[in-house]
Amino acid sequence: MDNLASLRDQVLTAAAQAATVADLDEVRVAALGKKGQLTGLMKALSGLDPEARRERGQALNVVKDEVAAAIEARKVALEEAALNARLAREGVDITLPPRPEASGMIHPISQTMDEVIAIFAQMGFAVAEGPEIEDDFHNFTALNIPPEHPARQMHDTFYLPPQADDTRYVLRTHTSPVQIRTMQEQAPPIRIVAPGRTYRCDSDMTHTPMFHQIEGLVIDKSTHFGHLKGCLIEFIETYFELSDVPVRFRPSFFPFTEPSAEVDIGCSRKGGELRIGAGDGWLEILGCGMVHPNVLISCGLDPNEYQGFAFGMGIERIALLEYGIPDLRTFFDADLRWLKHYGFVPLDMPTVTGGLSR
Ligand code: PHE
Repeated sequence: MDNLASLRDQVLTAAAQAATVADLDEVRVAALGKKGQLTGLMKALSGLDPEARRERGQALNVVKDEVAAAIEARKVALEEAALNARLAREGVDITLPPRPEASGMIHPISQTMDEVIAIFAQMGFAVAEGPEIEDDFHNFTALNIPPEHPARQMHDTFYLPPQADDTRYVLRTHTSPVQIRTMQEQAPPIRIVAPGRTYRCDSDMTHTPMFHQIEGLVIDKSTHFGHLKGCLIEFIETYFELSDVPVRFRPSFFPFTEPSAEVDIGCSRKGGELRIGAGDGWLEILGCGMVHPNVLISCGLDPNEYQGFAFGMGIERIALLEYGIPDLRTFFDADLRWLKHYGFVPLDMPTVTGGLSR
């Protein structure tokens, strides 16, 4: 009997001293496992005569139950302590100030918009905005694109369901309707840029159904094509941070400008690597021209008194070129790894004097 009492004490002490659930499990196995000490004593019962077996069996069962209960109680206590320690370790103190290293990044589209706006702001342009859901008048008719005009097919327009009077709103296909809204709302002289989202029903390697443009509009009494050229060349040199980019004004057509031009910048593609600057290639980056007299008339301005120029530029395109991003569609994948790689630090605001981006 004595050896049973001392075994009991020994196991209870070991259980109480076990510092971890794993240690405790070793104690349990040593006492109650298949080859455990108490289990061994139970097995030895078969060698006793019935009277002694009953007595010894009862005593063993009492100890076994007591030991099992003690081990279980210790296990619950150890688990609770482990949980509390973990909660304390991983706790978040929401009263602490934020960490200095910010983890959010500015998307290259936003950064490019800010850069372009900073450059034109420096030249004296203000920012104007307009709705993304437009009516036919502002998106087309006032821009000298009457109904049935073939130029409407240049834009793969998203139409909204027809209204009661059969008119249909559209998702604006360009930022040019902001020209109209601005001329309707403010008197010349006008000098604005209008950045924003635009939509066309088109999707492939180089087109996404939603994309961004920035529009420019200057209206005054003596504005001429020389101003247009000077303004855009200044923009291009500042944006690409190169002082001698070849710039080409190539005759083109837009219903709302006359004459119209597309602007190409010089580049080289040696070894498959695209470089902006001198080279034997050209890259188209924007459309522009002198505001068509019909557009001025639609906005209530007298074309004999006022004239001006306008331009429109794709933001994704110039962002791709500046930051060497190979695939347009990745802009809208919302992939955090991509954003970490191409994104910008939030407080790194672009300014012409302080440096745009690099
Ligand atoms: N709105 C034209 C386009 O989306 C760009 C443009 C704007 C051209 C202003 C001339 C003047 O392609």
